Amino acid sequence: MSVSGPFILAIDQGTTSTRSILFDSRLTRISASQREIGQCYPRPGWVEHDADEIWTSTLATARRAVAQAGVLAADIAAIGITNQRETVVVWDRATGAPIHKAIVWQDRRTASVCEALRSGGHEQAVRDATGLLLDPYFSATKIAWLLDEVPGARARAERGELAFGTIDCFLLWRLTGGRVHATDATNASRTLLFDLQSGDWNETLCDLFRVPPSLLPRVGGNAEIYGTTDRDLLGAAIPVAGMAGDQQAALFGQACFYPGMVKSTYGTGCFAVMNTSDTPLRSNNRLLTTVAYRLGNETTFALEGSIFIAGAAIKWLRDNLGIVDSAAQSADLAASIPDNDGVYMVPAFTGLGAPHWDPHARAALSGMTLGTTRAHIARAALEAVAYQTMDLVAAMTADGAPAPDVMRVDGGMAANDWFCGFLADMLATRVDRPVELETTARGAAALAGLGVGIFPDLAAIEAISNFDRSFEPGMENAEREANAKGWQCALAGVLNN
Ligand code: G3P
Repeated sequence: MSVSGPFILAIDQGTTSTRSILFDSRLTRISASQREIGQCYPRPGWVEHDADEIWTSTLATARRAVAQAGVLAADIAAIGITNQRETVVVWDRATGAPIHKAIVWQDRRTASVCEALRSGGHEQAVRDATGLLLDPYFSATKIAWLLDEVPGARARAERGELAFGTIDCFLLWRLTGGRVHATDATNASRTLLFDLQSGDWNETLCDLFRVPPSLLPRVGGNAEIYGTTDRDLLGAAIPVAGMAGDQQAALFGQACFYPGMVKSTYGTGCFAVMNTSDTPLRSNNRLLTTVAYRLGNETTFALEGSIFIAGAAIKWLRDNLGIVDSAAQSADLAASIPDNDGVYMVPAFTGLGAPHWDPHARAALSGMTLGTTRAHIARAALEAVAYQTMDLVAAMTADGAPAPDVMRVDGGMAANDWFCGFLADMLATRVDRPVELETTARGAAALAGLGVGIFPDLAAIEAISNFDRSFEPGMENAEREANAKGWQCALAGVLNN
């Protein structure tokens, strides 16, 4: 099959791997290349990445995707970057060299700083300005840690010699040969330094978190030309025309352009994000208020619920218990029994995220009898991911969001038919699965295409969104309620508050 341009290259720099995917102008995948990146755990609760490895994996996968497709670099009209959010890199503006390893979003080293700020009564003001919680998940306390712990860093930062960026910003800097220091509004909205109302950095927050404003990049929109790549890197000067954090890119890739539309992405964890229109909806249920996308001067906001363990629970069944050989087998096992027989798993292996935010919760399996088999345990792991999604949707509606009529799913676990069917049953809502499960990369490509005018507007992107299958709910109310009640009991057993 011969393909013709223009093409769009999406770079998806995630927590465990870097992917580059080349799309055509109908957002159909042409080629893809992926490389795992190393995880450093220097101390319990600390997680670091090598920023130079992130860069080399980006360049290598981008070059491979282009070479595999056999297209000319000159036919690539735009690059879109999407990335693991919150992860912090600080580098030297003169040399481009990072001053330390990147501190990853999962890293808990600044938990005590967050606790001290909370005890100091700062949480409400921080929530009001940023839509976030005081939690080490976000960037600001990680930046201050680097400035305090790397010898001389704070003084260099005060002199304007250093730059901070999340991964989008660092890759943009490297792709443009150090000419552009910018981030986009979605990534900025995850730092604890960005004001949702003004749409820019907030000096009071910079003071509170002890981050000199001289470190910070310009904040741009999600679909605009930030700069062009150095010709030597990919063989042409290609505009970088789209940037967004990965969960927001997935929302965009799923064409959730209207208020109330919601997607959930199932990777290592699960992130459910709902479009809430041009007004930020403040959560009373410990969800996050965040930027969904900024196009021109118009900002659309979202409510987000983050579950830390989804696919990771299935990986645990395979790698630690050895009771499944593959993720697909977990679905076969789950389907082999008529019900869960009262067995529940609460997969709080790294504490619990939204809406509980309990870092001290630990995972549990409950309700087992001598009749419990590996099928029950596999089923309990899959069911738990659906129950947690159900809790996030309940928190969203309790916050005043409309009850969704469709949940759009993507990511690895969305390939699992049994899981999608059970999710539809527990949400009592239709679940739609797109043809392209890599909607994060698709979203980055869509934004970049918008940035260079391949797509004139959102309607053009919506028109080419294809769904592979819909799952309709079919469970009786009594069974749904019994399942939900069993889950709530199991959850109560692990929560500390
Ligand atoms: O907030 C963290 C999220 O952006 C990480 O996503 O897909 O790299 O695990 P992922």
